[in-house]
Amino acid sequence: MAETVSRVAVTPIHPCLGARVEGVDLAGPLDEVTFQRIFDAFQEYSVLVFQDQRLTDEQQMTFSRRFGPLETTINSIGQERRLHPNLVDLSNIDPRRDGRLMGWDDRRMLYQSGNQLWHTDSSFKPVPAMASLLSGREVPAVGGETEFVSMRHAYATLPEETRRRLEGRVVVHSILYSRSTIAKGLFDPEQEREQPPVRQALVRANPVNGRKSVYIGSHAWYVEGMDYDESCSLLDELLAHTTRPEHVYQHRWHAWDLVMWDNRCVLHRGRPWDATLHRRVMRRTTVAGEGPTADPPFASRSVAWDGIIPEGVGL
Ligand code: OGA
Ligand code: MN
Repeated sequence: MAETVSRVAVTPIHPCLGARVEGVDLAGPLDEVTFQRIFDAFQEYSVLVFQDQRLTDEQQMTFSRRFGPLETTINSIGQERRLHPNLVDLSNIDPRRDGRLMGWDDRRMLYQSGNQLWHTDSSFKPVPAMASLLSGREVPAVGGETEFVSMRHAYATLPEETRRRLEGRVVVHSILYSRSTIAKGLFDPEQEREQPPVRQALVRANPVNGRKSVYIGSHAWYVEGMDYDESCSLLDELLAHTTRPEHVYQHRWHAWDLVMWDNRCVLHRGRPWDATLHRRVMRRTTVAGEGPTADPPFASRSVAWDGIIPEGVGL
């Protein structure tokens, strides 16, 4: 029997993270050898870029499911719920007004602008996302890039003393907190009740290769058991260390790029563009994580973010 010869080529694109993957058509069925090559590259490089992948929504979901079950989207003003519940719709096209472009003053776009803060997807859920796959369907010629940094590289380059300070720590994450830094009232009371703060380990290890990462980002609200000001400066310090400009891979989109990233060890953010002039239509699928990163997964007092500092924060 002829051996399957995989034509997949993996080329690193940045010293800290990321690789381009060529010689594969993600729309078609993928044999085990080819999928394994992609899976291994994902564990190693954390961000994979595939070009010229004209995927339908169905094909994108089928490929994504090879990595595990998909997340469903949360109930928010950022979502029009026109698509399959496994798809996140990131676009500046107004579905209610004949496809007119929405500017940054539109509340739905204001909500979406939360993606321009460094974050890791779904860290505000009790089981945070493992991977995200973003398909660029229509992309602006200028702006609208997506940037990535490695929280694994960040951990590896921390002083030993700081690493010891982080060990065993738990951080409370909340999307009500992160969106509150943009504007008030982006969630209605019912939506707020659906998003209680969750606990995440501050240091995580990849289950395949054991490599450790810090785990932070815009939803990271405070470190449990630490004075609130000290917690804020620690999280700010870690973010600054992780996102140093020379550590950033900036992806400039071409239509039909598919970029996937490892949310366990990568922060990302979208960059602005002239949304009243240029269309940007993206579709995301999100592979669920394997389980909570801290036990128990929910913070002890479920407060909606309205300026209340929870117990134990020490203000
Ligand atoms: C995302 C995201 C940023 C962008 O899809 O999770 O944060 O550039 N996207 O659209
Ligand atoms: Mn995101």
